[in-house]
Amino acid sequence: MFAGQEISVSLVNVIDENLTQLKMLNNILFSVHFDEKYYADVVASGELTKLAYHSDTCVGAISCHRERKEDGAVRLYIMTLGVLEPYRRLGVGTRLMNHMLDLSSKENMSEVYLHVHTDNEDAINFYKKLGFETTERISNYYRNAIVIKDYYVLTKRLAVLTKHEAVNTDKK
Ligand code: ACO
Repeated sequence: MFAGQEISVSLVNVIDENLTQLKMLNNILFSVHFDEKYYADVVASGELTKLAYHSDTCVGAISCHRERKEDGAVRLYIMTLGVLEPYRRLGVGTRLMNHMLDLSSKENMSEVYLHVHTDNEDAINFYKKLGFETTERISNYYRNAIVIKDYYVLTKRLAVLTKHEAVNTDKK
């Protein structure tokens, strides 16, 4: 459609009025069912969930939450990232991800991570291009053991500033 060029998108928080857009995207893009708690958390998450609009069309979304690790460090977990098929390879996924990477760096988080199916080569290529590394492989046996789905955990470690460095950065 756009022959490999980048398209301009604006990123918008999810609110009650546009929640249907996220529901439609998730239905199209993912085989997982998202419950009402997920959607309530998304609406409350502010900057941690974004819809990407090209003109008036919602073409992609990212949803995340913060997690505290046992050592006290805070990291970002990417629950979902998806772009509608006709709008892929046009920089939309990168825009959405860069928003979350910038936010994570500003909040001095230690890392950003996610799960992805081992057979999802498109997404794995995308994440690797953005500096994510495979940190774990998880075997997930579905209840009836008909389908065996394996996941990679992909992680991007971020530079964590000491309190002293963070104060000096704020002053600049
Ligand atoms: N094959 C190879 N490399 C790719 C591909 C692909 N299909 N897609 C992206 N890349 C790499 C390329 O290096 C690309 O740069 P280039 O186009 O200049 O070569 C770079 O990533 C950036 O691509 P974007 O255009 O920013 O990515 P896009 O907007 O297409 O979004 C995404 C990528 C989100 C993975 C998209 O393919 C998608 O929605 N897939 C279906 C849903 C999905 O699988 N989501 C991830 C599941 S995991 C999770 O949700 C936590």
